[in-house]
Formats: sequence, C-alpha cells, structure tokens
Amino acid sequence: MCKTIVFSLTFDNILLFMKQTDVLIIGSGIAGLSYALKLAEHSDKTDVPIKITLLTKKELKVSNTSYAQGGIASVTNRIDNFEKHIEDTLNAGAYLNNRSVVEMVVKQAPERIKDLLHWGTRFDKKNPKEFDLAKEGGHSEARILHYKDLTGAEIERALTEQVKAHPNIEILEYHFALDLITEHHFGKKITRETPDKHCYGIYALNTQNGEIITIASKITLLATGGIGQVYETTTNPEIATGDGIAMAYRAKAIIKDMEFVQFHPTAFYSPKKENPAFLVSEAVRGFGGILRNHSGEDFMFRYDKRGSLAPRDIVARAIDNEMKKSGKKHVWLDVTHTNLEKFKAHFPTIYEKCIENGIDIGKDNIPVRPAAHYLCGGISVDKNGETTIKHLLASGETACTGLHGANRLASNSLLEALVFSHQAYLKSVTELPKISLRNDLPHWNVEGTKDAEENVLIEETKNEIQSIMSNYVGIVRTNERLNRAANRLKLIYEESEALYKRSKISQSLIELRNMRSVAYLIIKQAQQRKENIGLHYNKDLENQ
Ligand code: FAD
Ligand code: SIN
Repeated sequence: MCKTIVFSLTFDNILLFMKQTDVLIIGSGIAGLSYALKLAEHSDKTDVPIKITLLTKKELKVSNTSYAQGGIASVTNRIDNFEKHIEDTLNAGAYLNNRSVVEMVVKQAPERIKDLLHWGTRFDKKNPKEFDLAKEGGHSEARILHYKDLTGAEIERALTEQVKAHPNIEILEYHFALDLITEHHFGKKITRETPDKHCYGIYALNTQNGEIITIASKITLLATGGIGQVYETTTNPEIATGDGIAMAYRAKAIIKDMEFVQFHPTAFYSPKKENPAFLVSEAVRGFGGILRNHSGEDFMFRYDKRGSLAPRDIVARAIDNEMKKSGKKHVWLDVTHTNLEKFKAHFPTIYEKCIENGIDIGKDNIPVRPAAHYLCGGISVDKNGETTIKHLLASGETACTGLHGANRLASNSLLEALVFSHQAYLKSVTELPKISLRNDLPHWNVEGTKDAEENVLIEETKNEIQSIMSNYVGIVRTNERLNRAANRLKLIYEESEALYKRSKISQSLIELRNMRSVAYLIIKQAQQRKENIGLHYNKDLENQ
C-alpha cells in the first residue's frame, strides 16, 4: 500500500498537502467508476494490492452519466449483428471514424454489458430472457438496452454502490483537479511534439476547506466528461466544463476533433432558462414520436428519407432551419398517436416533466429545440486509452478515440466509456509494475495570488463565453462568425489571465480558464476544417 498524506505546510494561510497513490482517477461517471472497479477487482486477486484514489469535484453521483436517458447500444439478439452496428456507427460518423476502433467497441459491447450486470445494473426486459430493446436515430435495428428513461442514473447507482463498498478505492468528493504535473514543473520545456513527456500526478483543490493537495501517482486516468457548459443551452449539468481537456491541453497533450460538437435535436423548450436543459430522449422518436413544425408538417422527410429518426446532425440542422424560417424558438414533438400507458411506463421522467409544464401528451405536442449535448472530439487516445503523455490515460467523453468520427451514433457514448476504461485497465495492470512514484513533486505555486476571487466577474465572463459560442459557433457556422468568436475570445483571454494571476485559486476561476481553452479549441479546429462533414457545417463551405 502507498502512503496517504505525507506532510503539509502552509503558505499565506493556504494549506498545502502531499499524497501518494498508485492509480489516480479524476471523475466519477461511467468511465472513472468502471475503471476503478476493474482495477480494484484485479487488485483483490494479486499479492501486491493496488492503491486506487478517485477524486471528483462534487458528490460521486454528479456526472453526465447520471443524466443519460435513452440507454446503451449493444448487439444482444439474433435479428441484429455486429456488421449492422458497425455500419450504423460509421454511417452516422460520416465515415470519418477509425474503423478498427469501431469494430473493437461494437464487438466488445456484449461483454461490457455483462460487466454492468455483474455490478448490479438493471435493464428493462420484455420477458425473463430478452431485453426490451429501444430504437434511436441512425440505428438500423432496435438495440438500445435501457432502464425506463433513467438508464444513466441506474448505471451510476450500481457503480457508485460498488465503488463505495471497495476497501481499495479511496474516494475524495469535492476535490477539484487543477492541473497535471509533468516535466514542465521541473523547469523543463516541453511542447506538443516532445516525445517523452510524463504525467507524475496532479494538483487538486479541496473545495470544502481550501487545501491544495499535490498527488503523486504512477498512472492517472482523466475521466472528466464533457463540455456542454461552454454553450448557453445544454443538456449537460454544471460540472461539464471540459476540465480534463483543458488540463491535458495545458500539459501539451494532443487534442483533436473539437469542431464536432453534437447538438441533441430534442431538448425540452422552456421559456425560462433551464440549466441543464431537460432532455426528451431520442428513444421517444424511436417509440413513434414525430417532429412537426408550426404548420403541423412532419418536415423531416424533406431533409432525409429516415424522417424523424435520421442521425442527430441531420435532425438538429433541420430543426435549426425550421426555427429560422418560422422565427419561432422551438418545433414540436408529437406523441399523441402513441400508446399512452406504454409511454408512461417507458418514459416516466419525460411524462412527469410534461405534466409539470401543463402538457398533456395524449393531446398536446411537446415543445423541443436543439441543445449542446456531447463532444465527439477531445484528448487524443489510442486503443488502450493512452494519451500522448506517458502514464496519462483518458476515457469517456473527455477522450477522442476515433469511435464517433464526425458525429456520434445515439447511445454509443456510455458503451465507448466502458470499452475504453476496460482497455485502459488492461494496459494499466501491465504498466504499473514498471513505473516508480516520484517523491520530489513541487508544491502548487501560490505566490502573488492574494486577492479574493471576484465571483461576479467570473460568472459574467463565463456567460460571455457561453453567449459567444452559442451565437457564433453553433449548429450552422460561417467564416465571419468564427472569426468574430476568435476575436472576442482573445479579449476574454487577456482579462481572465490577469484575473487568474492576481486571485486566490477557486473552482470557479479554474473552470472559467478551462471553458476558455475549450472554446478556443472548438473555434480554432472549426476554422481549420475545410469541408462540411457530420456535425461541422459552415455555410461558406457549401459549394466547395
Ligand atoms: P461524466 O459522466 O460526465 O463524469 C465526469 C466526472 O468528472 C464527473 O464526476 C465530474 O464531476 C468529474 N470532473 C470533471 N472535471 C473535474 C475536475 N476538474 N476535478 C474533479 N472531477 C472532475 N450517452 C449514451 O450512450 N446514451 C444515452 O442515453 C445518453 N443520454 C444522455 C442524456 C443526457 C441528458 C446527457 C447530458 C448525456 C447523455 N449521454 C448518453 C452521453 C453520456 O451520458 C456521457 O457521454 C457519458 O455519461 C460520459 O461519461 P464520463 O464518465 O466520460 O463523464
Ligand atoms: C437520448 O436519450 O436521446 C440520449 C442518447 C444519447 O445521447 O446517446
């Protein structure tokens, strides 16, 4: 076993701690939790136990995972086969996917579903032997395993129960990862091209008492999830500020495909701003729901022969176009013709949301509009979840694995996280014996940071970023809009760096810096993409 707290010192009333662990996991969604469990179960069978530390910025269950509704895609019956799931994934991704990654993920899916069942996850069944499979956009077969419309919450429940029960996993809630420690912290210049750079651990802030901890680790897994909060309207909860991507970017890892931000076509439209926006699952369209414009037209067939069940990039763009034409803030989702009792049983949360908003789904249509939902890009990893920094792995939404290409197929994200955390676990157990912990990590530098953070200014700047991204870097882009976004962001960069340099560290301040980096990467990579493909659509490229 490794030691926990080694020593502490104070500087300007900020307590600085040191800690050591074999494996450090940042994030408690499906990617972080499943990796922790795999390692812990392995550790149980070995003579030298592995010390695992999992830290997360709020409570364990606060994650995008907890919000997942539709379910998890896997081939589980004889009507379906791997080739169909592979082809659907490639087709949705505009064939920009890495085919061998797609094959690996699709073929591992049934085994990873068994892992979830082993950890106690429940999925709805239509009889004792068969899962109740749902269909979603872009899928040629019904292959989505689900637990009502609460699949993510059910997975999170099962996994957090297991993790809490495991003695080898130390859980640090309300611990916010600030930065990765690399050769840079020992005064060595490293660049994105430097081949031999390492991650030796991280700095983290205990947000309940202000302590800053230096955590030395042999292996670090980034499982920090998505970036939805860089947009004004998003289905992602407040934790989704792209911290892992920004940390990895600062540490000189390669980040790619950031232009491929997926907008979910059907977030519930509410005249008051809801953060996060409530999702009306794509499975509702799989159940028979039809998108209609304000003239009552089933407009999707004008855009794609698959109608309301076309892949997300196509549906979101079509809705955006219909909204611009009509000048309205939403379109409608019509489920009035479906079986009400079955609807209530499959979608109890969506049904409740409608009731709360005075919508009787037997008679009324549901107002919906697109919202930022998922990032296909992220930290570039290989098939083992290894980033371009040694001993730094990434899994889940923060990683860019090559599975999704230019647009993710619905319900492939939870699956991707499970498969890549499994791969990362296999890699970790072979690498761990070869890695030594560094015991000479420098403390976090707090010099010169004396002012109390200016919360109002921080919140206002976050709002500015969200507004820039929503206005200029949304579903349909133009060169002028992208340039405008880049120019506005430059000013924000200068102002927020000045604020960072003079202020005491806080979660909110670092999130602001992280959102700024994520916004910068999306804009820059969108400017570099010279074709309209999948989720990237620039009007100025229309006739090229
Ligand atoms: P998350 O589950 O987001 O977990 C990230 C964790 O990292 C959180 O615990 C967070 O607190 C922590 N964290 C972040 N930054 C820091 C930091 N600096 N320090 C410490 N901790 C940090 N996908 C599907 O496949 N099927 C679906 O049906 C589906 N439905 C969805 C519905 C909604 C409303 C949303 C928002 C997403 C949905 N998705 C779905 C996408 C899917 O849920 C996510 O992509 C997936 O859950 C991501 O898992 P993750 O483990 O990578 O990240
Ligand atoms: C949904 O239920 O529509 C979300 C599915 C997903 O994002 O994969």
